[in-house]
Amino acid sequence: MDDRLRNELAAWLEFYRELGIEDFYRRPPAPKIEAGNSKLETGNSKLVTELPIPSARPEAPKPEPRAHAVPPQALNLFETPQPARRERETLEQIRADLGDCQRCRLASGRKTIVFGQGNTRAQVVFVGEGPGADEDEQGLPFVGRAGQLLNRMLQSIGIKREEVYICNVVKCRPPGNRTPERDEIETCSPFLFRQIEAIRPRLVCCLGAPAVKTLLGLKEGMLKIRGRFYDYGAAKALATVHPAYVLRNPREEKILREDFEKIRDFLRA
Ligand code: URA
Repeated sequence: MDDRLRNELAAWLEFYRELGIEDFYRRPPAPKIEAGNSKLETGNSKLVTELPIPSARPEAPKPEPRAHAVPPQALNLFETPQPARRERETLEQIRADLGDCQRCRLASGRKTIVFGQGNTRAQVVFVGEGPGADEDEQGLPFVGRAGQLLNRMLQSIGIKREEVYICNVVKCRPPGNRTPERDEIETCSPFLFRQIEAIRPRLVCCLGAPAVKTLLGLKEGMLKIRGRFYDYGAAKALATVHPAYVLRNPREEKILREDFEKIRDFLRA
């Protein structure tokens, strides 16, 4: 491994350590590397490429933009164009790996694992915090009151719920709907990273502080960082407030509406 690669790898490990993630897995080498993928996907660097690639930190290595296999005008607005790509995990494989998860204490209080729902080739992935009572009951994300608000917001920008993918930072309901704890996020978030990597959306929308912190490593107040686009590898990430926050503070609905309009403009651009 050359020095540059070693330094990049060290920067990544440090980045994930700061997020509280210390365990990494390594998939068997992909049979073929296609042109247009990350410049890190050469030589001995596959370990690096298997990690999610948020880049809120300046030193985070940025992959090359992905090539589109079809002309943009032929694209369905809500599906990510499928470039020639290397073998990658499917959501089904990730779900199978999650299994009847007992990796953290949330397992004991849950009824159902809420893995995620929606278009597996979505251009936009919404990431919430964790399932609530309704989600735990039904096994689907955002089906309670916060979900209804999310649906309304999507509708207001002309997007159908089934056109996007929706999931959470943790897949099991925290007791009493408390915020997931650091070690729970540390245990569960690799599955989120893998889901995003499997879908490869153009945009990841972080709903609320836990998603922002987990995906972007940003710890500032939500009202300061919301409404902005951040680099998330080859994709962008938008930070916005959680719909449940708006339910508690109805006057703030305009914030969420404003941010969803940004999503619409981004997808149209
Ligand atoms: N809140 C979340 O963060 N996620 C859900 O799935 C539901 C409510």
